[in-house]
Amino acid sequence: MENTAANFRKHFPALSQQVYGKPLVYFDNAATSQRPDCVIEMQQKMTGQACANVHRAVHRLALDATELYQQGREAAAAFIGAPADEIIFTSGTTAAINLVASCYTRICLNKGDRILITEAEHHSNLVPWQMACAIHGTKLLVTPVKEDGSIDMETYRKQLDNGVKLVAVAHMTNVLGVENPLKEIITAAHEAGAVVLVDGAQGIVHSRVDVKDLDCDFYAFSGHKIYAPTGIGVLYGKRELLEQMPPYMGGGDMVDRVSFEKTTYGPLPLKFEAGTQNISAAACLAPALKLAREAQEDAELQAAMNATDKLMAEQLGTIEGLHCPSLANPLRKGIFSFWIDGVHPTDAAEIMDKLGVAVRTGYMCAEPIIRKYTDNGMMRASLMPYNTQEEVQIFMEALRRALKMLR
Ligand code: ALA
Repeated sequence: MENTAANFRKHFPALSQQVYGKPLVYFDNAATSQRPDCVIEMQQKMTGQACANVHRAVHRLALDATELYQQGREAAAAFIGAPADEIIFTSGTTAAINLVASCYTRICLNKGDRILITEAEHHSNLVPWQMACAIHGTKLLVTPVKEDGSIDMETYRKQLDNGVKLVAVAHMTNVLGVENPLKEIITAAHEAGAVVLVDGAQGIVHSRVDVKDLDCDFYAFSGHKIYAPTGIGVLYGKRELLEQMPPYMGGGDMVDRVSFEKTTYGPLPLKFEAGTQNISAAACLAPALKLAREAQEDAELQAAMNATDKLMAEQLGTIEGLHCPSLANPLRKGIFSFWIDGVHPTDAAEIMDKLGVAVRTGYMCAEPIIRKYTDNGMMRASLMPYNTQEEVQIFMEALRRALKMLR
């Protein structure tokens, strides 16, 4: 099994480098994943060869760029089981959520209505809703999570009866790594007359997503968390909602007819894609998601990933004074956020960095959920299928060494 992960790892050139003379152990995947050869090659092709704007010109380069760009959209659509014209390109998950918070709320909210999020949301699935509430005179409801990071579903169901028009929830939370019971959440919201936006930034990496089966109304994710470059995000929306929503930004490529008296808008998805998009990054979604699908379908690689996760959980459990709220939660996947009595996480991370180990520390763009447990921030180690059990051992040695120096 360990060989399977080691073989998969060969696709990612950055993982074979040394930092400070030590082999790199990259455990900051929830912030951004590494890029495989196939994506790097596509980036080179889009800059060194098919470098042109899309949709506008009839020359060869423009036609090539347009085709590769469209293949990126089709790959994103197929990856989540959606039609291609219900896939809107954005710069990332944050921009996708802001689009809905700005445009959908204009057609669904009245004074006194409610928007509901959970206590474990990333700032990008929290702040845009606060901003929408301020504009529309609506109130934000927050469903608590239990000590192990699971949503308190009983409270959620009760809150839905309070005039909730929109539920915004992470598929998988970026701090605690807990996969939320989306089907249950979505069915209950629909019964209460609310639509559901799913922040899939982390969930897209660790779960297979079928938006039609989930019946979510919106699903947002970023390319860079799943092997594609930064600067490309995807918003899936149900056609009937996208058609009713006003555009987000005005400009080129999103229009049908333009005159000084009146402008009519283009069809989906162009209506929401004003201006030149990140063409190269969008094209990279095709190779990135092809590799991600192969990894999902490789039973041996998935078993290796589960074994690495299990080893990490066992090893972390042996550190005295370490608190990882979701460690034993069966819904946790690939992410470990924890704090250790008497040690500042950033001090430990700086020592670990010198030993070649990359982790994230602090509030991880999700301050409320971190502060529920501790005031000094946490350390987060997040795994991908290319991480190995050998790396877990190096990580643990580095952590133990840092603790010895700091305690
Ligand atoms: N959202 C990214 C993270 O959780 C940046 O680290």
